[in-house]
Amino acid sequence: MSNLKKILVDKIPCKSIWFMRQAGRYLPEFREIRQKNPNFVNLCLNSNLSSEITLQPIERFDLDSAIIFSDILLVPHALGQKVSFIKNHGPELSNFNLELFLDINEKIFSQKLNPIYKSIEIVRKKLDRKKTLISFVGAPWTLLIYMFGLKKNNSELDYIELNKLSKSMEQTIDKLIKFLCIHIRNQIESGADVVQIFDSWAGLSPEDKIKDYCYIPNFKIVEFCKEKKIPNICFPKGIKEKYEIFNNFVKPDGLNLDYEIDPSWAKEKLKNVVLQGGLDPKVLLKSEDIIIEGATKYIQTFKDIPYVFNLGHGLLPETDPDKVNKLIKFYRNS
Ligand code: CP3
Repeated sequence: MSNLKKILVDKIPCKSIWFMRQAGRYLPEFREIRQKNPNFVNLCLNSNLSSEITLQPIERFDLDSAIIFSDILLVPHALGQKVSFIKNHGPELSNFNLELFLDINEKIFSQKLNPIYKSIEIVRKKLDRKKTLISFVGAPWTLLIYMFGLKKNNSELDYIELNKLSKSMEQTIDKLIKFLCIHIRNQIESGADVVQIFDSWAGLSPEDKIKDYCYIPNFKIVEFCKEKKIPNICFPKGIKEKYEIFNNFVKPDGLNLDYEIDPSWAKEKLKNVVLQGGLDPKVLLKSEDIIIEGATKYIQTFKDIPYVFNLGHGLLPETDPDKVNKLIKFYRNS
């Protein structure tokens, strides 16, 4: 069994390190492929290229896990919305159509995402058995923000628009949960070992709706994983001290800390769960001394409990790959 699975399943405190967005724009070998493939969705759905990109950081660094190169927005794509990534602007989705959305069936959905499953099969064949292959989904709330076009800028939501949608919310979330579980099942059946559920915008949920929009949907997806014995990691980014309520409500196998969570607080409050990550990806843009100091805080705090080294959000495009390498070496020798 791979180290990450040993930690998540048997709670054995052995070494394991990987990074969110470890395959991406900070790597020149990724940029080379990306330049020739201007359509990001098509790139994710090209099994040969997406498997190659998934393995790029594994070939370059001493990492324990590969995370499949894809995107959380491929699910809205498979549910009928046109998804485009505009340079320096982020993702854009065509208008949401509830009727069309409710009409999509499982067969069409799985067929559209089949290249991802093929890519997982290719990676699993090439990846060392001792390494974990991580699959992922976006949580319903984070997906809805993109599907309904609710984001005004990086930290604000259009709450007026959100209120108008509250009636169709329940129906949409239910259908999303169902299809996210299908996507998880398909990825695991293709050879993935673990699933991470990204609720990157959990912190933007209205306070009085966080149970309906964040805790319950994550809980239902984790319940599905537990039924199928699929090791799972949740990432409810930005909810601050509500990480404790989330953990007690959802009870995932693993919980990724974001960079706002104090590691000592996490160790004290977040029980019966394997902790992962936390280090601010911006620290990797600083000097080596500062990187080592930042990493040491996490390594020291969690040295006697099962802990997976990772970041508090994805690697930034301006990160120097050499610094990533030095951080991994430091972790291995710690
Ligand atoms: O972690 C990995 O290495 C696996 C691949 C992965 C990508 N996106 C590739 C990607 C994963 C796990 C994601 C998840 C994802 N996608 C999330 C949740 C995690 C997070 O970062 O909060 C979200 C919110 C998205 C939606 C998304 N995709 C945005 C907002 C953007 C544009 C902004 C940005 O950071 O580039 C993307 C594009 C995207 N997804 C890129 C990559 C490598 C960059 C594409 C490019 O080359 O332009």
